[in-house]
Amino acid sequence: MLKYFFYIFALLVVLVVTVAGFRGQKSQKTPIEIFPDMDHQPKVKAQVPSQFFADGRGNREPVPGTVPLGYAMPLHKPIDGSTGESQSPYKQVRFSSGVSYFDTGKMDNKWGTGIPFEVTPELIARGQERYAISCQVCHGATGAGNGIAGKYGLVAIANLNQTRIRDMADGEIFNTITHGKNTMMGYGDRIQVQDRWAIVAYMRALQFSQGGATVNDLPPAERTKLESQNP
Ligand code: HEC
Repeated sequence: MLKYFFYIFALLVVLVVTVAGFRGQKSQKTPIEIFPDMDHQPKVKAQVPSQFFADGRGNREPVPGTVPLGYAMPLHKPIDGSTGESQSPYKQVRFSSGVSYFDTGKMDNKWGTGIPFEVTPELIARGQERYAISCQVCHGATGAGNGIAGKYGLVAIANLNQTRIRDMADGEIFNTITHGKNTMMGYGDRIQVQDRWAIVAYMRALQFSQGGATVNDLPPAERTKLESQNP
């Protein structure tokens, strides 16, 4: 009886070893695939020829005009309205490539503060326009967090005039625009770098207007105008 058991056992061992093979051994033979899952898919691998395309190459050319993310566009209109090409990186259309303060909002490992180029009335106007396009739907025209998106169910939109955000470094706000924050999505792939800074500059103007600013902060001419209207 025991003899038969031994025979059957030995047979089973041989059977298992034949089908499953020894573990950890390399073989040139195609493995037996009982469940191939999705191991084999018709696809073109990078840098490999292909009979499918007329030119015999598997790789396709990018669509004409494609700009790789992270590169400056060679052709652009300066945002200050001036004509002609500017070589200044601050006037190029670009979407965060380098590690500079201009691209990241960081100085070393800390958030830096200050707009990394000259703040002009045109820049603030540009920021206002970009803010209206990209931020106002949620944060509202005054930054109070009461934009239309709130009425459609978006909750906990930050009030940009709160002390915490007033005290926040410019670089951190720049980074929030680039990468988003919690439920706010990032806009780094659709707002070019210097426009993000223009928005930060405009946000600072908004914050100033929404608290802390007095009539004495107006230029004398504007003040006289206002005072003559409201004596
Ligand atoms: C789709 C709605 C939406 C849009 C558009 C939007 N935000 Fe926000 N934003 C939010 C929400 C929601 C929060 C709060 C996120 C949280 O829970 O911290 C927020 C938070 C912020 C904060 C505070 C971040 C912090 O550290 O607490 C800043 C600054 C800010 N947004 C700036 C902007 C600017 C500038 C724009 C335009 C480029 C913009 N947001 C566009 C929804 C939006």
